[in-house]
Amino acid sequence: MKAIEIASYGAPDMLREAERPAPVAGAGELLIRVAASGVNRPDVLQRKGHYPVPPGASDLPGLEVAGEIVSGDEAALREAGFKVGDRVCALVAGGGYAQLCVAPVAQCLPVPKGWSDVEAASLPETFFTVWSNVFDRGRLQKGETLLIQGGTSGIGVTAIQLGKAMGATVIATAGSDEKCEACRKLGADHAINYKSSDFAAEVKRLTGGKGADVILDMVAGDYVAREVECLADDGRLVIIAIQGGVKSGFNAGDVLRRRLTITGSTLRPRPVAFKGAIAKSLREKVWPLLEGGAVRPVIYSTFAAGGTPTGASQAHSLMESNQHIGKIVLTW
Ligand SMILES: NC(=O)c1ccc[n+]([C@@H]2O[C@H](COP(=O)([O-])OP(=O)(O)OC[C@H]3O[C@@H](n4cnc5c(N)ncnc54)[C@H](OP(=O)(O)O)[C@@H]3O)[C@@H](O)[C@H]2O)c1
Repeated sequence: MKAIEIASYGAPDMLREAERPAPVAGAGELLIRVAASGVNRPDVLQRKGHYPVPPGASDLPGLEVAGEIVSGDEAALREAGFKVGDRVCALVAGGGYAQLCVAPVAQCLPVPKGWSDVEAASLPETFFTVWSNVFDRGRLQKGETLLIQGGTSGIGVTAIQLGKAMGATVIATAGSDEKCEACRKLGADHAINYKSSDFAAEVKRLTGGKGADVILDMVAGDYVAREVECLADDGRLVIIAIQGGVKSGFNAGDVLRRRLTITGSTLRPRPVAFKGAIAKSLREKVWPLLEGGAVRPVIYSTFAAGGTPTGASQAHSLMESNQHIGKIVLTW
């Protein structure tokens, strides 16, 4: 099969087309003929050598795919209601930038009715991450206020739409007025340009001094202190990335006086059973929203994966330019 491999850690042009042996589905797994592969910021970190591959995972980048089931563990397929030929999208721990990809059956979901392969490939990584962090860890409730840092990221466009669909008031931050407008178009009640205003003061102002009940943070560093300031009493801060650094000083007195929770997680190294439980929640609570049109795909660009230079390297350059709004997807 054709695949995109990381020739050595470094710039986007280190993503090269290669011939690799087809992977083989083991117990509880299925093999997908990949039509489209989603691109995520963790792939960029992996290419730079900053995101080690979990034990047992493919060294090829790529955390999500969509395509057709070629073969698989028959008992597991039957139990999940899948058969060979069905179109699925899957969350994988690696190996997504390839024409064939093995996935645990538990981490596969049907392509939502009416969605293309490109659209379906844009789903797993951000929907699993947002569900797990905003709704499971952050326990966002209807009527609460959700602050999303990086509202136009792949994660952000998912969080805005899911937050609104679940009845929250959504405030998003972004680095330009154009991106703020995109957040509002996606349904955010308010968008804050974090480069021209102080997001913590704005959140306090927009919530009448109360603050946000849940914050989804992909920055950390010195943001944590400001997030603690603009969390409501009993608020939950969920950290999913450390783009601003790992060191944070914050007012610990606020944490106990106002009963705040500071938590976080990374999805990739978690066990199949954990991801399978998220897949079940998504199928039950979110897939109807996708099929009913309440939550829409936000695809910024697609690239044919291979070639010289590879489409994958162009996709990574685009992601690192931070121009994109929503998802970037590779096709095969
Ligand atoms: N923990 C997990 O399980 C998990 C899973 C998937 C992804 N992630 C992380 O989640 C983040 C988003 O992933 P993605 O694939 O959606 O990436 P992406 O589309 O490339 O988004 C990165 C975003 O970070 C925003 N950003 C950077 N600095 C910021 C700041 N100071 N304030 C506010 N926003 C800032 C950028 O917004 P502007 O362009 O507006 O500045 C951009 O929207 C990445 O850091 C990724 O590593 C974590």
